[in-house]
Amino acid sequence: MTHLQGQERADYVRDMFARIARHYDLMNHLMSMGRDVAWRRDVIRAAALQPGAHVLDVATGTGDMMIEALSQVPRLRAIGSDFTFEMIHVGQGKPGAQSVRWCAADALQLPFPDETFDAVTSGFGVRNFVDREAAFREQRRVLKPGGRVVCLEISRPSRNLLRPFFLLYFDRLVPIAGGLISGEPDAYTYLPQSVNEFLSPDELKNVMESAGLRRVTYRRLMLGSVAIHVGLK
Ligand SMILES: C[S@@+](CC[C@H](N)C(=O)[O-])C[C@H]1O[C@@H](n2cnc3c(N)ncnc32)[C@H](O)[C@@H]1O
Repeated sequence: MTHLQGQERADYVRDMFARIARHYDLMNHLMSMGRDVAWRRDVIRAAALQPGAHVLDVATGTGDMMIEALSQVPRLRAIGSDFTFEMIHVGQGKPGAQSVRWCAADALQLPFPDETFDAVTSGFGVRNFVDREAAFREQRRVLKPGGRVVCLEISRPSRNLLRPFFLLYFDRLVPIAGGLISGEPDAYTYLPQSVNEFLSPDELKNVMESAGLRRVTYRRLMLGSVAIHVGLK
């Protein structure tokens, strides 16, 4: 996978998520040791949404981010977009999903006018994008002035004592567990590869700033293996 670029890589990613869609939520909870629920809660708080606000979650997958947002903020207009129909389809069957507006769309070409949303969120999506800076430019374009981009992502672990354990977990345990649960072993070799390729929190901050976002800050979670970045338009 690491050698793939552009459209070929995007097709590979979409095909992989289509194959694991049915097992995605279970694997996600297991791999994060159940912490993903609290991280999404933190993302929605960081988005500082007012009642009646308009929010978009890109690469929404099975939609947990917008389901969480709707449970926190009254009268929210919440759209979840993703380019893998199978992930959306699983999400649409979940409790709370009826209030999410679902949209099949590529994160690099969002089908919304400029300045539509008060906040744009994403969870574990950016790592998969072929062009991350272009994706943040697109998020900035659809944001209203003063709006927030909030990004939850796995980070490259810092060089500390825990790094070898983190790498062992992602490089060895996750592919085995993922392969057993989903019956798609190669899909779960993609995750450690994509994590190893991924940016440090400072590098991701720079990408967001290059895309035109201002006052980008981040918070590290889970011993530095996950980060929430916030940037303003
Ligand atoms: C790891 S899942 C994350 C799902 C969800 N956001 C969550 O927090 O659990 C990554 C999602 O990104 C989507 N994705 C990857 N590249 C995309 C792109 N260019 N446009 C839209 N969705 C994309 C995949 O289809 C998949 O559903």
